This record gives sequence, structure tokens and C-alpha cells, in this order.
Amino acid sequence: MEDAYVITGGKPLEGYIKLSGAKNVALKLIIAALQFSSTVTLENVPKINDVLELIHLIKLLGAKAEFVESNTLHIDSSNLTSHKVDLLHGSKIRVSFMLFSPLLHKFRECFVPNPGGCRIGARPIDRIVEGMKSLGVTLEYDTTTGYYNARMPRDPSGNYHFPKPSHTGTELLVLLASIGTNTIHIENAALEPEIDELIHFLNESGARIQREGHTIVVHGVSELKQKLPFEIQSDRNEAVTFATLAIASKGNIAISPIQEHSLTTFLDKLKHIGAGVEVSKQQMRFYNKNPISSLNVETSPHPGFMTDWQPNWAVLMTQTKGESIIHERVFENRFSYVEELRKLGAEIDFIKTPIQNPADFFFFNFDPAKKYNQAIRIKGPQKLHGGVLTVADLRAGATLAIAALIAEGESVINGVSILERGYENFVEKIRSVGGEISKI
Ligand code: EPU
Repeated sequence: MEDAYVITGGKPLEGYIKLSGAKNVALKLIIAALQFSSTVTLENVPKINDVLELIHLIKLLGAKAEFVESNTLHIDSSNLTSHKVDLLHGSKIRVSFMLFSPLLHKFRECFVPNPGGCRIGARPIDRIVEGMKSLGVTLEYDTTTGYYNARMPRDPSGNYHFPKPSHTGTELLVLLASIGTNTIHIENAALEPEIDELIHFLNESGARIQREGHTIVVHGVSELKQKLPFEIQSDRNEAVTFATLAIASKGNIAISPIQEHSLTTFLDKLKHIGAGVEVSKQQMRFYNKNPISSLNVETSPHPGFMTDWQPNWAVLMTQTKGESIIHERVFENRFSYVEELRKLGAEIDFIKTPIQNPADFFFFNFDPAKKYNQAIRIKGPQKLHGGVLTVADLRAGATLAIAALIAEGESVINGVSILERGYENFVEKIRSVGGEISKI
């Protein structure tokens, strides 16, 4: 199987890239569609490995899912026959745990494996399990099989307050609460725009869900029925990757379509370092007008600087004059790219920064007995050279590709199917702005 890129880097990349639909919206809408009493049509669904894996998984449950046009997906869940999620495919994709909701609504009982996904930390689902229990679901975990057995004898009821926000946890509880006879309050809910897109999709189909800041109020309805096809908005993580590539390669890339509000924090940071950013109604353009300066970032949930953006930011900081620090607060293992970037000549060290109250500061479940590496210092500017690299997680994959594209000479990146879990037509898009890349 072709699973590597060969990249010859070192030149400015210029041109236009049309963004694909958002992975982290498409996955949730496909799962939500299983809870509908009508068929569902989703437009602008990215054909990426995670989406194709999820489609395979829901077909194993009995659903029908076909692309009718290049990115238009038609889902019919009227024949859902199984209430047990396949272990192999379910454990490959983390969002599979969101299947609890449609399966519980359809069968009142289901078996869902412990989730998989990118290797960016332990990623427990304790808050999500507690949330489901608060809404009346009983759950037992069988360590010998790796399955959760969940039962929901009655319509969901009750409220839940997240001890710390969770993006997909919020989405699962919203979905679970959307059908029934009760009103449910989800407090300290996460604020990511992808969650609001799910809410918009459900409300267009008869749901009654309101957000008031960190509180989401869900009035259960008897059924969800789609009236019109729903178009998924563009992927803001993909936007960040191509913006970074434009600036780091000293090039000039325009992208569209993208909503400015979903990227405000990132755009502010770019302006701060002196990068060229032009935003119009039609598109965004990124370029390098002057030498850019270094800037520290600290990740946090929306509206903060997103954890998915920091690996890309690290490459950009290798090209600035001075030192910068990246502090990762959301996941406990999001620096897999550091060792790889060092192979290309980047000077990056792990550093210890004193934190007053780490249990509050970090968004993962902080364990004082464990050792964490949550901050790096990057020294710039560094001229990167080619090397042989391996991808360990999705956003690290895009980061290594950016680094190889700005490095002088040839690089090989192994394990790119992980990158392609989240980036559609990556090779074609890079070539369209002049990048030398081929898949082998
Ligand atoms: N957490 C727990 N227990 C829980 C839930 C979360 O400890 O029950 C921890 C997580 O391990 C993490 C932190 O809380 O350390 C925040 O996790 P959250 O639940 O908010 O993240 P997620 O829902 O698992 C989604 C995206 C991620 C994105 C984050 C932050 C999807 C499918 N995934 O993850 O996207 O980084 O929110 O916005 O929507 C990616 O696309 O590559 C990706 C990892």
C-alpha cells in the first residue's frame, strides 16, 4: 500500500486552494443521521480516511450510506439492524463512541467499544460516561471484551455539568438529549463552532436546542426529519495548515470558503507576528511580507488557540527570529512531531514551566504522579534540510509535510494514511500551489 510522500522542498508556494468540508463536523453529522426518521443528505462531505472508515462502520450496523455525487452523501438508517459496534473498525476511530446515542434511541441497549483515534494522549471518556449516566443511561465496561454495555430504559432526563469542557462529549449529550419528552441542561459545555454546526443541523430537522454561552438547553422532540440537504462548512484546521504553509514557505496562498469567526484567534496571532493576512468576504490570503517575529502560544478550547493548530505553529516559529514557547494545555501527548522536526535541523527543546495549579490549568485529567512534557521552546530562524520522517498523529502529519515543503532538498514522510484521515486530496492541493510532492 502506498503510504509515504516524497517531497522536494525549498520554494515559495503560490496559488489558490479550495477548502474541503470539516472533518469534525462531517463525522458527527453522519452519526446524528442514524437518529433521524427520514433519510439524510449531507453535502460537502470530505472523502478522507476517517469519514470512509465511519461509513464502513455504520454500514456494518445495517445503515445504507452512498456518495451520490462527488461529496454528497446519502444516509438511510431505516434498516439499522445491529446494536453492537464492530470492535476492529470501532476502535480505529474515536468518534465511534458517539454511536451510543442513535443505538440507544433505536434499541434501548447497545455495545460500543472503548474508542480509538489519534495517539495524542490517554483520551479517557470518563466525563462523557458520567454525562450519559446523569441523563439516565446505565453503563458497564467489560475489560475482557473492551466493550461498554449501555442501556437506556426511559427517555433521557436530568442535567449534566461538565467538570471540564469536552468537545465531542458536549456533542454526544446534545444528540442524546435531542429526542425525548424532557428538557435537559448541559452546563459548562464546550464552545467549538463545530458543536454549533451540529446544533444548527439538528434544529433545521425539528430539534429544539438553544445555547446560552456555556449552557445548552435541549428540549426533547419526538423525531428528527430532514427537510433540505445540509451543506457542511469548510475545515478550519485545513485552513490553518495552508495558511501556515503560505507564510512559512514565503509564498502567497488564497483559500476559500471560510468563516472568519472560526479563526479569529489564529488570525490575530498571525497579525501579531507580522505575517501578511488579507480577509475579504470571498477568500482569505496569506503571505509573508516582512520577516516574521516569534510569539508564544498556549492552547485552550475555543475561543482560545486550538490544540490542533500548535503543531503547525511550531514549524512557523522555526522560521522566525528569536525564541518562542508553545504550551499545550488540552492533550497530554501532542508533541510527537518534535523529534521528527529535529531530524530536519529544527532546534526545539522540552522545557518545564512552573504551573500554580496544574489540575485546573490542564484540560486533561492531571495526575500528579505522572511526568508530563507540556511545553517546548523553539529557536529560530533555522534553515531546515530534508530527512526521513514518520507520522504519529494527524496534525503532526500535516506539520511534517509543511516542514518538508519548506526544507531544502528531498524528504520522505512515512505513515501518511494518518495525515489522510483528515486532509482530502492533500497531494493534489499541494501540487496546485507548486509543491513537489508524490505518493509512493
Ligand atoms: N477528556 C477526558 N475525559 C473525557 C473527555 C475528554 O479526560 O471524558 C480530556 C481529553 O483527553 C482531552 C481534553 O479532555 O485531554 C479535551 O478533550 P475533548 O473531549 O474536548 O476533545 P475531543 O472531543 O476528544 C475534539 C476533536 C479534536 C480536537 C479537540 C479540541 C473531534 C473528532 N475531535 O476532540 O480534533 O483537537 O476536540 O477541539 O471532533 C483532530 O481533528 O485531529 C482532533 C484531535
